[in-house]
Amino acid sequence: MKITVIGAGYVGLVSGVCFSELGHEVICVDHIEAKVDMLNRGEVPIYEPGLQALIKANRERGRLRFSTDLRASVQPSDIIIIAVGTPSLPSGQANLSFIEQAAQEIGQAMNGYKIIVTKSTVPVGTNERIRDIVAKCTNVPFDIASVPEFLREGTAVQDTMNPDRIVIGTDSPSAGQQLTTLHQSLTSNIIVTDIRSAEMIKYASNAFLATKISFINEIANICEKVGADVTKVAYGMGFDQRIGASFLKAGIGYGGSCFPKDTQALIQIAGQMDYDFKLLKSVVEVNRQQRYNVIRKLVSLLGQLTGKTIGIWGLAFKPETDDVRDSPAYEIIAALSDMGAVVKAYDPIAADNFRHHCDVSGLIYCENAREAAWQSDALCILTEWEEFRQIPLSDIESWLKSPYLIDGRNIYEEEQLAETQLVYYSVGRPGMN
Ligand code: UGA
Repeated sequence: MKITVIGAGYVGLVSGVCFSELGHEVICVDHIEAKVDMLNRGEVPIYEPGLQALIKANRERGRLRFSTDLRASVQPSDIIIIAVGTPSLPSGQANLSFIEQAAQEIGQAMNGYKIIVTKSTVPVGTNERIRDIVAKCTNVPFDIASVPEFLREGTAVQDTMNPDRIVIGTDSPSAGQQLTTLHQSLTSNIIVTDIRSAEMIKYASNAFLATKISFINEIANICEKVGADVTKVAYGMGFDQRIGASFLKAGIGYGGSCFPKDTQALIQIAGQMDYDFKLLKSVVEVNRQQRYNVIRKLVSLLGQLTGKTIGIWGLAFKPETDDVRDSPAYEIIAALSDMGAVVKAYDPIAADNFRHHCDVSGLIYCENAREAAWQSDALCILTEWEEFRQIPLSDIESWLKSPYLIDGRNIYEEEQLAETQLVYYSVGRPGMN
C-alpha cells in the first residue's frame, strides 16, 4: 500500500518507518524543515533503539521518504495517517489546532478516494470533526478511522512491530477491512469498533496505567509506615491474572509526554460532560506528591538544604530515552534549587534536552556519574539507567561527602547494601526508607 504519515514526531516517525519495514511505500511529512533535512541525511531527531537502522535500510530500498510538501505527499497515497501532536492547553484540554490544520490541508489535497486515519491521541468526537473539515474542502469520497497508538518510548520499534492489539475505529466496513489487512501481519488481536469507542480506548488505557502507578506508589507509602516491602507486595499481587504484574513499580511517579497530558485531558473531557472524574484527579494528585518524597527524605537527613550539594543521577522521564517532557527530575531539581541547594546532575543521554527544555538556574551538568556524586552531601537516583546499576556501591560511598543515597527507583537490593556504610532511602521498603 502507499501510505503518507503526517507528523514525524515519535508516533508518526516510528509508525511510518515500521510500515516501510513491512514493505509499504511510505512518505513521512513534517512542517519542520530542519527535521526533514536531518531525516533525509539519514540522521534521527530522537533517540530510539533500532530506529536509525530501519530508516537507513528502508531509505536504501526506496520505500521511505521524508518531505515538507504535504499536498504532493498526500496525493499518491491510499492511506493518510495523521500523527501530529496534541499538546495540553493551560486548561489541560488537548490542543487540536495541529490536527485541524492537517485535516484542512488533506482536504485541499484530495485527488481520489483515501482512508484518513488518526493515530494522534484525540478527544472523543475529534475524528468526526476531521471528517467535517475534510468534507468542507472536497467532494472526493473518503473514509475516516481512529487507530490509536500504544507504543512506549524506548521500546517504540519493538512495540509497533509486536503490538498487544490493534484498535480500528471506523464506520466504514470496507475501510475496516483494508486497515485490518494492513495490520494483520503484526498481531491477531485486531479489534474493529466504532470511532468513539476507539478514541476512548486510548485515553482509558493510559488513564488505567497511570492509576496502577499511583496505586502502587500509595501502597509503597503505606509500606514505609507499616514495615512491608512494596516490591514483594507488587510481586505477590502480580500473579493474579486479573491484576497483572506490569506497571506496579513504585518510584517517584510517572512522567513523559503521554500520561500527564492524557490524564488531564480525560479529566477535562469528563468535566465538559458534567462528570467529575474523582478517581483520576486523585491519581494525578498522588503522582504530583510522590515526586516530593525525594525532597522530604533529603530534608529528614540533611535538615536545611541551603548550601548543601545534591548529586542527581538521571534526568530522562524513564531509561532508554532522551525525552525529558514532564520528567519528575525537573520538578525535583527545581524544588531543590529553590531551597538553596547546589545541584549537580548527570544523565547518559538526556542532558542536552534537559538543558534546552527545562529552565533550572544554576544547575551544574556533569560529564559522568562520578562527577555528579563527587563530594556531594547526598545522591538521588531519579532514572533507572542500567549504567547506574553497574556502578559498585563502594564507589558511590567513596565519592560522596556524606553517605546519603536516595534511590527514587529502587535499583539496589538489601544484600548489596549490607556491605556498605551508606544510609540508603528507597521507596516503600523496610529499613530502606
Ligand atoms: C505510555 C504508554 O505506556 C504507551 O502504551 C502509550 O502508547 C504512550 O504512553 C502514549 O500514549 O504515547 P511512555 O510514556 O512512553 O508510554 O512510557 P511508559 O513506559 O508507559 O512510562 C511512563 C512513566 O511511568 C515513566 O515515567 C515511568 O517511569 C513510569 N512508570 C512506569 C512507573 O513509575 N512505574 C511503572 O511500573 C511503570
